[in-house]
Amino acid sequence: MSHGGEIAYNAVMAALSFILTLLLVMLFFLFCKKKPMVGSQEIKPTKLSCASAYSLMDIDAATDGFNHRRIIGQGRLGTVYAGVLPRGEMVAVKKIHPRLVLSNAGFGFSSMIKRLSLARHPNIVSILGLSEAPGERIVIMEFLGVMSLDYYLHQNSDGPSLLDWSRRVRVAAGVARGVEYLHEVAAPSIVHGSIKPSNILIDFQFCARVCDYGLSFLAPQERRGLEGYVDDEYWVGKGGVSKECDVYGLGVVLLELLSGRSSEDGLLVNWALPLIKDMNFSELLDPRLVIPSNLKPLVRLAKVAAACVGNSRKNRPSIVQVAAILNNLEMDLCL
Ligand SMILES: *[C@@H]1O[C@H](CO)[C@@H](O)[C@H](O)[C@H]1NC(C)=O
Repeated sequence: MSHGGEIAYNAVMAALSFILTLLLVMLFFLFCKKKPMVGSQEIKPTKLSCASAYSLMDIDAATDGFNHRRIIGQGRLGTVYAGVLPRGEMVAVKKIHPRLVLSNAGFGFSSMIKRLSLARHPNIVSILGLSEAPGERIVIMEFLGVMSLDYYLHQNSDGPSLLDWSRRVRVAAGVARGVEYLHEVAAPSIVHGSIKPSNILIDFQFCARVCDYGLSFLAPQERRGLEGYVDDEYWVGKGGVSKECDVYGLGVVLLELLSGRSSEDGLLVNWALPLIKDMNFSELLDPRLVIPSNLKPLVRLAKVAAACVGNSRKNRPSIVQVAAILNNLEMDLCL
């Protein structure tokens, strides 16, 4: 009997210690779980690197009162100035044309810019801040101090030789990666709306950086500067900007990289498509560069360009498909 009692006693003790251990483990988990929750609530606001809002006075000081000597670019949406913020940080200050501000009450300007400012990628130019005042809309962007693809291809006589074939492929792949990020990774996704060489900056490592994305809401009626870089569908019915339209614009940029010619309001597409179909590369390729002995990568690039500009929106490749091919081309050139 006493032996049996001992076993029962041991069983009760074992059960008790098991329950006690279980309770301790549960308490431990509860305690540990609480801590990071408090922590993440504290971290959240600083983690979002959202655009800062500046007063017009700050921006006026940063640009010497929008001094014309500080103008670094004139775009369809506004004038860009080189500015220095109070902390000494160099920035690009885009002052939206007053007529666009007046025709578009600017409703939602700050929330749209804040949304765009969350985008971060090695192939895009980041938006850092904004300024808003009656009659004024200002977008503050990263300052790179470099020239655009438009400058390299069409304005500088040394540009074409600086941009040799392998650098052109690298630029093409970089632009595709930047747009792929905007379309597929950024949340919510961003339609660029105006892909063209003047919106592609070339940094000192010949890496492409796409700028001016997502700003078409500022000028829904402004058609100037888009001719030649948007598809036929853009102009009809509900058309307008779309991911497919961005891919068309990228296709035109690829044709400019290949031929060294500017889009000329869309004439480039009509000229280049038959040459690509006939594989007439002696006519197509930029005459300012020597035709490479291995034509394969450029043939591939031309086929991608033709697929981007030669199809309707429904049949056009997606940016993911285009970026995958151009990434492979870039890697093959590195071998
Ligand atoms: C290429 O195109 C040019 C201009 O259209 C033409 O003169 C030339 O004969 C073509 N070359 C070939 C090989 O088709």
